[in-house]
Amino acid sequence: MVTPPPGSPAGPGQPGTHLTHGAHPHVVPRHPRLDPLADRYAARTHGMKSSEIRALFSVVSRPEVVSLAGGMPAVTALPLDAVGLMIGDLVSGMGAQTLQYGSGQGDPRLRERICDVMALEGITDASASEVVVTVGSQQGLDLVTRVFVDPGDVILAEGPSYVGALGVFQAAQARVRHVAMDEHGLIPEALEEALADCRANGDRVKFLYTVPNFHNPAGVTLSEPRREAVMALAEQHDLLIIEDNPYGLLGFEHEPLRALRARNSQRVIYLGSFSKTFSPGLRVGWVLAPLAVREKLVLATEAQVLCPPSLTQYAVARYLDTQPWREQIKTFTELYRERRDATLESLAALMPAGTAWTKPEGGFYVWLKLPAGLDAKLMQPRAVAAHVAYVPGIGFFADGNGQEYMRLSYCYPEPDQIREGVRRLARVVEAELDLHSTFDKVDTGTFRAVRGTPGREAERIVGPANSDTYEDPR
Ligand SMILES: Cc1ncc(COP(=O)(O)O)c(C=O)c1O
Repeated sequence: MVTPPPGSPAGPGQPGTHLTHGAHPHVVPRHPRLDPLADRYAARTHGMKSSEIRALFSVVSRPEVVSLAGGMPAVTALPLDAVGLMIGDLVSGMGAQTLQYGSGQGDPRLRERICDVMALEGITDASASEVVVTVGSQQGLDLVTRVFVDPGDVILAEGPSYVGALGVFQAAQARVRHVAMDEHGLIPEALEEALADCRANGDRVKFLYTVPNFHNPAGVTLSEPRREAVMALAEQHDLLIIEDNPYGLLGFEHEPLRALRARNSQRVIYLGSFSKTFSPGLRVGWVLAPLAVREKLVLATEAQVLCPPSLTQYAVARYLDTQPWREQIKTFTELYRERRDATLESLAALMPAGTAWTKPEGGFYVWLKLPAGLDAKLMQPRAVAAHVAYVPGIGFFADGNGQEYMRLSYCYPEPDQIREGVRRLARVVEAELDLHSTFDKVDTGTFRAVRGTPGREAERIVGPANSDTYEDPR
């Protein structure tokens, strides 16, 4: 389903009402007097809302809560003293460069080193002139979207998709059409069907956005045969692909699969990041794009930030030049593998029947499906009360789907905390199942929950799943 252009309510704390003024559908806050600038905001701000993940921040930072919610890398596994000395030297020895403005495209030395990093995933033909350094790959996503997407354009994206990308697409007033995935990643037949539907509807597809490795949030990896199939479809349908690959070097089982960009340099724009292999706090990522696109990206980034920060670019370049970064990536993957194992073993031992989950071969995330009838968002307050946090699945869909899913991150907590977190979660799920079976047997009409409806702003009272009054919010 293609979601309607954003125009739905503003985020929490800014309840909105979807009104139509003559021919111009418009959204205004419900209480304009609370915000004197309410009627001046650009239309693109109306669909902006805080992500499910940010909304959880205050809760998950409480020490008694085991957080399986955030995707924070385990940066304390870095040689912090060595990194600290390195950064200190950059300021004392090279302050004239590292504390100065730099080029909009990014430091040439770093762009060379980025090409070495990409070679590890089979991209051997990239030149530094095609690389644009960005403030994390998040800025890369924003730049690419600015350069290609007009309001109302369709973007194809896996269902579920990375929440930060959905936020960028929403701000650009794009329409997202999800493409189904399974344990082998994006399903090529579903992609073909989506392309055919869009053509039949006269919808303009600007690109496919995909995270082929250790997907956020699904945890799955696009298989080798499917990589070939997706590239063949791209060729057949003249499709541009945005390949977002922050986790590709964090595999537990085998060498990295060849990137999509390694198979076609003109159809694929590649986004990379040092956030998961070094440090997210430095905010250094990049885009690799054909020269004509690169030119536009540089203009867009200059308009946005003038240039990426010099100090952090020098820090990454120096790190790659002087520190054993490949060994450090191995240290990270060993640590994440242990945490992945703790997660999967605990889930297998403790989760009630009817629960299913993905088995990631790398990266940070497990995507869990609750037993039929349960809703991860509705269950969340009970989980937080039981001192365990996760991210409800609906945040990863642009069309309001995903109620029965949640994302579990194993990257940050220690294995023992993970085991305790999963134990608490399993109890919450069991209690929820008990509640459901009770109310399925006795429909008293007393089980009432308040649920926000995607695309609609009124609060909705829903009855038990077997009640006539139950309304599926999809
Ligand atoms: C799939 C995906 N893309 C992009 C990003 C943004 O990363 P960065 O820190 O490089 O901006 C993330 C961060 O979690 C991610 O999971």
